[in-house]
Amino acid sequence: MQGTSLSKRGIVAAWRSIPRAATIAVGACVAMVATALAAASLIAPAPLRAEGGSAGSMTEHSSRAHLGVSTCAGSTCHGHSVPDGNPVRQDELLQWQQEASPTGAHSRAYRAIVEPRGQAIIRRMGLDSAGIRNECLGCHASPGAVKVSEGVDCETCHGAAGGWISSHYTVGKTYRRDVSQGMTDLVNPKTRAKVCLDCHFSGEGQGQFVKHRIMAAGHPRVSFELDLFSTLQQHWNEDADYAQRKSKSNTMRMWAVGQAEAVKRSLELFSQPARANDGVFPEFYFYDCHSCHRRIIDGEQDSVSAVPNPGRPIQTGMPPYNDENMIMLLAAARVAAPDLAATFDTRSKAFHRAMGEGRGAAVSAAQGLRQTAEALSDRFAASSFTREQTFKIMDTIAGDAISSRLTDYEGSVQSVMAIDTLLNGLVNQGMVPQGSAAGLRVQINQAYAAVRDPNQYKPFAFRRALSGAIGSIRGLR
Ligand code: HEC
Ligand code: HEC
Ligand code: HEC
Ligand code: HEC
Repeated sequence: MQGTSLSKRGIVAAWRSIPRAATIAVGACVAMVATALAAASLIAPAPLRAEGGSAGSMTEHSSRAHLGVSTCAGSTCHGHSVPDGNPVRQDELLQWQQEASPTGAHSRAYRAIVEPRGQAIIRRMGLDSAGIRNECLGCHASPGAVKVSEGVDCETCHGAAGGWISSHYTVGKTYRRDVSQGMTDLVNPKTRAKVCLDCHFSGEGQGQFVKHRIMAAGHPRVSFELDLFSTLQQHWNEDADYAQRKSKSNTMRMWAVGQAEAVKRSLELFSQPARANDGVFPEFYFYDCHSCHRRIIDGEQDSVSAVPNPGRPIQTGMPPYNDENMIMLLAAARVAAPDLAATFDTRSKAFHRAMGEGRGAAVSAAQGLRQTAEALSDRFAASSFTREQTFKIMDTIAGDAISSRLTDYEGSVQSVMAIDTLLNGLVNQGMVPQGSAAGLRVQINQAYAAVRDPNQYKPFAFRRALSGAIGSIRGLR
């Protein structure tokens, strides 16, 4: 993997606001399924003895059967201990199991709820094992898995193997044939985004909603950017052979489609009454966190900490909808789909305005906005993004029209991830030399530092750091 992605790893650890639970050292990882399974059962928790309880789908027709990690991990398949595979690395299991690295996060997903931090959340919420299944396992295990203790396993992302496994072994098979038999086409940015968003944003499936009550019980807030997070868990090589079989992924396209799909997902969930409400309250998950979690200043000096935001015409005192992805999508649209940008802008403002009118108005405005986001997603999925366009998107994010909308922590984090990702894309695409990009790390790190602590976040200081970084990037143009 290239140098820039290594530095991303350090960076993500830096901006994560809530300290991570300490990882248990389990000794050397051996690329043997037997070891993996033994380790999993060692840490199997008391409240969840009923392993396989979510295996209901096993009885569904066999093409959707979920077979478990051991099926993928044979020593001649994806269970090599060194990446000597051709055409694929074949050490994917080992990558997925990496301790203390984001690449291995998915194998630890179930463990996270067993360890003290997860148990504390569960205790505060008063969940029994059925409650854990309903609130946590949709994201911390694979829906339909044989063993929940395997966490987010290969088939969670690549699709239940029942339909494609037998022909997957055969000589001369192609990726397209696997896909035609039910393997999930993760090369397609729209498909990949939907798979990741189910857990890294929230989804419609059972146990796939990280609602405010879960965060209030101590869950880290979820923050996601499709390309950055793909790089962080990369267990494949995009070499010449990959490019031939699948086509090399386009970083800018992945980023832009990821933004559009996140906007769609947010509006779809918001439009469902079951997701949008919690008792007599609206579900707080959808709103800007810090609009409620602010210090109260009501002394004699008139100083209000909220900063005006021209992109969100709502009344003072109402919690604004979290628009982190809308802001990024507008920046991308201005440059790469200018004919749709004005509609998107108008509709996003109409949506914010409608939030103050009533639920009916808000849901109908959400539908219009979702349609435009869908059109943008399709457009971006078919775009290649030139060098010029990529620089222009970065400039647009730092420009007045967009940066005046960066009044919240979440949107600001998105904008730093965008700069990091887009610059990395220019390097990957061979449009900017790696050496000159590396020299900009200091400025990008300063922008990350300005969002390191959500409670110290200051919009104007942040914008200065961001425009400093983009100013230096402009020098590469
Ligand atoms: C919508 C999906 C979703 C749901 C539902 C969910 N989580 Fe998570 N959880 C995540 C994601 C994604 C992360 C990682 C966040 C990141 O690193 O960006 C995470 C992180 C965590 C962590 C921190 C792990 C670490 O290594 O620091 C704990 C603990 C946790 N979740 C426990 C729970 C518990 C307990 C529940 C149920 C009450 C739950 N989660 C429900 C998606 C979810
Ligand atoms: C969190 C989702 C996720 C999980 C879990 C996951 N993968 Fe992947 N995997 C991806 C994505 C995304 C790609 C890139 C798209 C592609 O090449 O198909 C990929 C690519 C691959 C490739 C393609 C390599 C190539 O050169 O064509 C293989 C093989 C693979 N994964 C095997 C595995 C195995 C085995 C496991 C379990 C041990 C696993 N993956 C777990 C998401 C995942
Ligand atoms: C079924 C739910 C699920 C799906 C689908 C999923 N993830 Fe995750 N992911 C998680 C959970 C839960 C964690 C946190 C695990 C932990 O920290 O213990 C996580 C962690 C990660 C991390 C590590 C983050 C960090 O801060 O260390 C990355 C990177 C990541 N996922 C990328 C992806 C990508 C890319 C996709 C789509 C190809 C994807 N995930 C799909 C549930 C999921
Ligand atoms: C509409 C207002 C509102 C929004 C928006 C909101 N919260 Fe809250 N939050 C509350 C309320 C009310 C409580 C409960 C406070 C109490 O128990 O005293 C709370 C409690 C919390 C707590 C527990 C605090 C403690 O010390 O007990 C955390 C953590 C939290 N919220 C995180 C978030 C995150 C993360 C977001 C954004 C995704 C968010 N909140 C958005 C109103 C809000």
